[in-house]
Amino acid sequence: MQVTGARSAADREPLKVALLGCGTVGSQVYRLLTEQSADLQARAGAPLHVVGVAVRDPQLPRDVPVDRSLMTTDGASLVTRPDVDIVIELIGGIEPARSLLLAALGAGKSVITANKALIAADRAVLHRTAYEAGGDLYYEAAVAGAIPLLRPLRESLAGDEVRRVLGIVNGTTNFILDRMDSSGADFSAALAEAQALGYAEADPTADVAGFDAAAKAAILASIAFHTDVTADDVYREGILSVTAADIASARALGCVVKLLAICERSPGGITARVHPAMIPRVHPLAAVRDAYNAVFVEAEAAGRLMFYGAGAGGQPTASAVLGDTVAVARNLLAGLRGPEASFYAELPVVPIGDAITRYYVQLDVADRPGVLAPIADAFAQQGVSIKDVRQDGRGEDANLIIMTHSAREAALAKTVSVLTAMEAVRNVDSVMRVEGMEGE
Ligand SMILES: NC(=O)c1ccc[n+]([C@@H]2O[C@H](COP(=O)([O-])OP(=O)(O)OC[C@H]3O[C@@H](n4cnc5c(N)ncnc54)[C@H](OP(=O)(O)O)[C@@H]3O)[C@@H](O)[C@H]2O)c1
Repeated sequence: MQVTGARSAADREPLKVALLGCGTVGSQVYRLLTEQSADLQARAGAPLHVVGVAVRDPQLPRDVPVDRSLMTTDGASLVTRPDVDIVIELIGGIEPARSLLLAALGAGKSVITANKALIAADRAVLHRTAYEAGGDLYYEAAVAGAIPLLRPLRESLAGDEVRRVLGIVNGTTNFILDRMDSSGADFSAALAEAQALGYAEADPTADVAGFDAAAKAAILASIAFHTDVTADDVYREGILSVTAADIASARALGCVVKLLAICERSPGGITARVHPAMIPRVHPLAAVRDAYNAVFVEAEAAGRLMFYGAGAGGQPTASAVLGDTVAVARNLLAGLRGPEASFYAELPVVPIGDAITRYYVQLDVADRPGVLAPIADAFAQQGVSIKDVRQDGRGEDANLIIMTHSAREAALAKTVSVLTAMEAVRNVDSVMRVEGMEGE
């Protein structure tokens, strides 16, 4: 069957594509570029020909059949070849990806990447290089895999004022926390299950310590607030210290624990943070199970929008990469460029101490009359208003569970240090932020 529009597209000179990396994502991009070449040609407006595939070891077996004659270990020569129009980078990490992309952009190529670490570190310089040399830079797959999120933020919401972006952007940690919630498993058992099922790497640090989510938060904040935000600007706490007891406490309060990326406008600028938080079970993000991702965007005129789907995996991520590839091809054929990155707002990223949220505090206290008054006073002294107090257990096992109203992070931290030193408090068992509550 003739694909509509395919004839005129086939008459055009092919656009030449250089693929850097042929691993989990790169192999799927290669497969789709070859298996769906007729449809992609019709949609893009010209054939898309892969003219080179840079890898580390050409002898390795591949997930998909790849034309071995295209393989090279010399990515630097490939990206500056005069016939190459589009470079797709799926190597990952900072180097050599950074040098290769700067060389490609400097040579006037258009670039597509899924590399969140690199974009979160060097977005501004990469965009500037693309702008000066006349190419495009697209990276939809760098945040939340298959979910169309960056383009809607950058283009569909360009006329609105984004107030807040709140999301689950790391599938590995969501899988672990979900298992802890549904089965009562502790962190290490849930991590072992995630590793056995291929959701977590052998070295899970980038995910469980929050680095991956912080890179994505930086990219989201940059686009949402038209400001240069890097991963170093993002406050980061991972899920290593989340205990089965925290999960059980959240459950008792009608909440679930999620690792959230939160970027929001605040009185002094913007805050960007990644940390575990309790959210009510009725919140839409609480329904995000397994390794799925979801991002809530709150904008002044649009109100609340939610984006949901597969945040990783070879094929889902390849879908986003190919969407960018078709967009870039269309731009090249029309002699246009995609929208510029905008950094005009230059909002300061305020320190975590100025972030405002609610807190859950669990204290192991001596069970005797009069204990509550000095504890309540410690909160009041720092201007942290208590919403609810509950006592669990009696005698040696007495626990006080305190939920606060919205308060400054710095005030809560000071309160906790005062509580830790109090004679009536045997231990501060748990402190966790609470997000997504209505009414404040
Ligand atoms: N995997 C996901 O689900 C996912 C989701 C969203 C975004 N991403 C992003 O997509 C990118 C790729 O991830 P991936 O999971 O596909 O990685 P991967 O499976 O580890 O593949 C990396 C590829 O890069 C090649 N490579 C490494 N060093 C190279 C060098 N110096 N020169 C040329 N090629 C080199 C490797 O070659 P060999 O095969 O010869 O070793 C391999 O083919 C990363 O930026 C990642 O953050 C991945």
